Amino acid sequence: MKEKIEALLKQVQQMQAQSADELESLRIKYLSKKGEITSLFGEFRNVAPEDKREIGQYLNELKNLAQQRIEELREQFEANKEAAEKQDLTRTPDPIDLGSRHPLSLVKEEIIDIFSRIGFTVEEGPEVEDDRHVFGMLNFAPEHPARDMQDTFFVEKEEGQQKPDDILLRTHTSSVQTRIMTTQKPPIRVLCPGRVYRNEAISARAHCFFHQVEGLYIDKNVSFADLRQALLYFAKEMFGPDTKIRLRPSYFPFTEPSAEMDISCNICGGTGCGFCKQTGWVEILGCGMVDPNVLESCGIDSKEYTGYAFGMGVERIANLKYRVKDLRLFSENDVRFLKQFEAC
Ligand code: DAH
Repeated sequence: MKEKIEALLKQVQQMQAQSADELESLRIKYLSKKGEITSLFGEFRNVAPEDKREIGQYLNELKNLAQQRIEELREQFEANKEAAEKQDLTRTPDPIDLGSRHPLSLVKEEIIDIFSRIGFTVEEGPEVEDDRHVFGMLNFAPEHPARDMQDTFFVEKEEGQQKPDDILLRTHTSSVQTRIMTTQKPPIRVLCPGRVYRNEAISARAHCFFHQVEGLYIDKNVSFADLRQALLYFAKEMFGPDTKIRLRPSYFPFTEPSAEMDISCNICGGTGCGFCKQTGWVEILGCGMVDPNVLESCGIDSKEYTGYAFGMGVERIANLKYRVKDLRLFSENDVRFLKQFEAC
């Protein structure tokens, strides 16, 4: 009898169950009316009177242990079940790795934010454009070098000279100007951010796509002084209150007069360093008064209205702000590079 009890004790101590059904069959096996422990109580009658006390105690311990163990396993099952019910299976696994804004998005948003404070709204246009909107209406002569096959990616082009209906990837966001001017009436005060494409070999300093933000303001009596003032405000907001600007005469087919704007080098503060090639100035954008030919080609009366426009490269501004020398880093999506902008 004692050996039987000991054997059962071992079994009960090691009792495991994978499911509620398994647990129930264990209960039946040991504790039901015909169960192994219950039937030992039947056999107890035959134990010699002098052993009854010891064996009885032993038997009771076995029964209690079996009941306790089964109860424990039952509680475990219930707790697991409850936890499973409470679990949100739609949650992403921990830890959640938060991404960061792309430096070009940060810079673009900052440019938009600065100009929106002086009344500019945002407009976008198509990246796949026709020749008319990218060149023709912007006063590009048919043989202008920017129309050259070297620079422009064509989507649909007939043999021979470029035609207004040729389809191409826009080479600058100035194309959005023509779309806005033909669909909206002055006063117009818009900012047009977007991606542009040029057929260039990829290197640290050039890429076949990059980003620009175009600005356009058309109203009665808009002057070059208004343009200068808006750009000075932008430069100080973007690069700090001590920033100076300088406008150099330049040429663009769609503006007359045209200029390129430099800012005082934000690395050396204008005293001259390697970054500004000891000049104290760095170029950041092109601008000018909208050529009357452009206004007329878009259906705006150039005797009544004047306007200014400017265009800047987002990568160029990002380079000045964050000192990213190699343009390719912006499009390679290397997380080691992108993670550095988490705090920005
Ligand atoms: N579209 C010119 C470019 O891609 C940039 C530019 C220059 C835009 C002068 C303008 C402007 O609006 O007035 O190089």
